[in-house]
Amino acid sequence: MATEHAPYKVLFVCLGNICRSPTAHAVLERKLASSPLAGHVHVDSAGTGDWHIGHAPDVRAALAARQRGYHMDHLRARQVRVADFREFDWILAMDHSNLADLKKLQPEHAKAQLSLFLPLDRKLGLAEVPDPYYGGPEGFETVLDLVEAASDALIRRIQEQL
Ligand code: 4NP
Repeated sequence: MATEHAPYKVLFVCLGNICRSPTAHAVLERKLASSPLAGHVHVDSAGTGDWHIGHAPDVRAALAARQRGYHMDHLRARQVRVADFREFDWILAMDHSNLADLKKLQPEHAKAQLSLFLPLDRKLGLAEVPDPYYGGPEGFETVLDLVEAASDALIRRIQEQL
């Protein structure tokens, strides 16, 4: 088990860091708090793009999350950086495009394991969390449904690793 001084570190990455990855960030934080891993895992999120650096999560994402009891008020967007590959244990991409961008940034001898998020839950049979930014409110519910399922799978996987 990781100690308080060296928590296991997970980074979620999407394009803008205002819709999908902050949703995953908030969902995993709350699920961890009521799991045996409470206090042993540090969660963060970032975007491959720089358009929304410093911005709060999209209000539609925050509202949909709040209706399920997840809070995103403490989150602000940042861009992923090379140092993240040395700091985090696992970097999880929301779609293939994010993963391709991350592979371009990935340094040699990175500590972080890099993968897509959704395949952690094999039952979903899906690879990507669809980008809800240009769609309607139902897209944000889909993001939450997928992220909730994959977060449960992620917690099980981290428990196996620690
Ligand atoms: P996200 O969604 O990657 O889930 O945060 C997006 C947010 C902003 C933009 C695209 C996707 N954008 O083009 O500004």
